[in-house]
Amino acid sequence: MNRLNTKTPSRSWVAVGVVLLLAASVQAGQSTVQGNAAAGEKIAQSGSALGAAACVSCHGAKGEGMPGFPALAGQRPGYLVRQLDQLAEGARQSPVMGPMAKALSDQERADVAAYYMSLPLPMKPVRGPLPSRGDDDGAWLVERGRWADGIPACAQCHGPSGVGVGADFPAIGHLSADYMQTQIDAWNKGQRDPGPLGLMGKIAGKLTPEDIKAVAAYYARLR
Ligand code: HEC
Ligand code: HEC
Repeated sequence: MNRLNTKTPSRSWVAVGVVLLLAASVQAGQSTVQGNAAAGEKIAQSGSALGAAACVSCHGAKGEGMPGFPALAGQRPGYLVRQLDQLAEGARQSPVMGPMAKALSDQERADVAAYYMSLPLPMKPVRGPLPSRGDDDGAWLVERGRWADGIPACAQCHGPSGVGVGADFPAIGHLSADYMQTQIDAWNKGQRDPGPLGLMGKIAGKLTPEDIKAVAAYYARLR
C-alpha cells in the first residue's frame, strides 16, 4: 500500500470514490419531483405563493449572482434542490436564505432548479495544462491538488474549469473568493452539512484563506 503515500497517487482512487458517490446518490433516490423551468422562471421573477422573495433581487436578473449572493445560472439541479432542502431544514444555516427556502414547496424547489439549470454557466469546460513547479498555488490546487495534506485536485470532483459533474458535484469555477470563503467557514463551524459522503466538509478544514483566494483567481483566469 506504499503507493498511497506517494505525492500524486493514482487518479483512479478518486475515480473510485466518485463512482461510489454517484451510485450512492442513485440508491438514495434523489428527489423524484420533475421541475418545470417556466414555472421556475415565474418564481425567480415574482417570488412564491408562500412568500419567498423574487430570487432575481439577490441572485441577479439571469442568476449571475452579485457580491455576497452566489450565482445560480447553469448550476447542477440535483445540487440546487439539495441545498434548498438543507437550507429549509437548517442543516445548512443561513438567516437570509433559510426562510426563503422554507417558503418553497418541493415542486417549487424542483421548478427553480430546472429554471436555473436552463441558464448558461459563464464558462467553458477547459482543463488547464498540468502546472509545473513554479506555477501558482491556485493552478496547482485545482489541477493537481495537495496530496501531502490529503487534498485531491478540485478538478477531480468539480470538473474541468470547475463546471461541475453529475448531480452531486456543483460548479464552482464561477464563484467569488468571498462566497467560497463563507462556505469554507460554514463547514468549519459546523453550519453547513458536510455534503455527500462528507467529502467537501473534510477538504474545507484543510484549505487556508490564501488557498481559496488562489483557487478563485485561477478560475477567473480560465473564464
Ligand atoms: C434577500 C436575498 C436573497 C433572495 C431574495 C434569495 N436568496 Fe438565495 N441566497 C441568498 C444568500 C445570502 C445565499 C448564501 C447563503 C450562504 O451563505 O450559505 C443564498 C444561497 C442560495 C442557494 C445556494 C447556492 C449554492 O451555490 O450553494 C440557492 C440554491 C438559492 N440561494 C436559491 C434561491 C432561490 C431559488 C431564490 C428565490 C426563490 C432565492 N435564492 C432568493 C440570498 C437570497
Ligand atoms: C472528493 C471530491 C471533492 C473535491 C476534490 C473537492 N470538492 Fe468541493 N465539493 C464537493 C462536493 C460533493 C460538494 C457539494 C457539497 C454539498 O452538497 O453541500 C462541494 C462543494 C464545494 C463548494 C460549495 C459550492 C457552493 O456553491 O456553495 C466549494 C466552494 C468547493 N466545493 C470548493 C472546492 C475547492 C476549492 C476544491 C479544491 C481545493 C474542492 N472543492 C475539491 C466535493 C469535492
